[in-house]
Amino acid sequence: MKLGVILHRTSWGMYRIKELAARVAALIPKIMESASQENTAASASIPSRAHRQQHWNRIYESKGPQDVSWYQRRPDMSLACIGASGLDKDACILDVGGGESTLVDFLLDAGYKRLAVLDVSGVALNHSRLRLGARAGSVEWFEEDVISFVPPHRFDLWHDRAVFHFLTTDDDRRRYVATLRKTLQPGGTAILSTFATNGPPKCSGLDVMRWDEQSIVAELGAEFQLHEVHQETHITPWKSEQSFVCFRFQWRPARTLREGGDRQERV
Ligand SMILES: C[S@@+](CC[C@H](N)C(=O)[O-])C[C@H]1O[C@@H](n2cnc3c(N)ncnc32)[C@H](O)[C@@H]1O
Repeated sequence: MKLGVILHRTSWGMYRIKELAARVAALIPKIMESASQENTAASASIPSRAHRQQHWNRIYESKGPQDVSWYQRRPDMSLACIGASGLDKDACILDVGGGESTLVDFLLDAGYKRLAVLDVSGVALNHSRLRLGARAGSVEWFEEDVISFVPPHRFDLWHDRAVFHFLTTDDDRRRYVATLRKTLQPGGTAILSTFATNGPPKCSGLDVMRWDEQSIVAELGAEFQLHEVHQETHITPWKSEQSFVCFRFQWRPARTLREGGDRQERV
């Protein structure tokens, strides 16, 4: 073959390769776009869990316990409501979204033995474990998003201060109540403390929903009987006022519950 013909064929081949590469490059943004759309559709709840975790971890990494608006030296209202539920000291108590709250310390001091703290922020849980030192070993710790939590056993009391009000979608609140129902013992107590209707519309940069007696009763449903309501003015570390309302419910499920197929409770 003559040199001229060989050169012509080689440069034609190079041209075709370059053309093909340009076509593939043009397709890449479209492939990426459709992959990211699929991701969003297939796992709508995962980004929100990851975002929550990132948001709260960042707060607990960058602020000390007394630099956050919800700080309380002693969680008096929570302790009073837990006391009013009349539980034995060996009752199982779960502090949902406990963060760095010292509620667990005060409950240990009061002689409660079976305590657990759940929070989406592992950073907050680590700070609480460090604060408690050796006493942390007697507490169960769950680094979980409450709306997808699968409890390893049931609890006699569910305590939530300032978590439920961050759930601003119907779907998240429906999942919260579903978790509550599979976590609580029938007859158990649920204490929810939220911003009141005249409380702040935002906390820690996030929108909140504010609650009163009527709206929360409607949200939880008739199986949750309201036993106690307290208005509370929380004073932040920088001396501003926030209106909270604390609700104590008893769960009276209307139908038979099956747990894991091996245990049946009729209430
Ligand atoms: C305003 S702080 C209140 C902390 C604590 N209850 C107190 O009174 O000091 C809200 C807490 O809820 C946690 N949290 C927010 N959304 C959550 C979720 N979906 N699941 C579990 N924890 C959550 C945050 O990490 C944070 O610790």
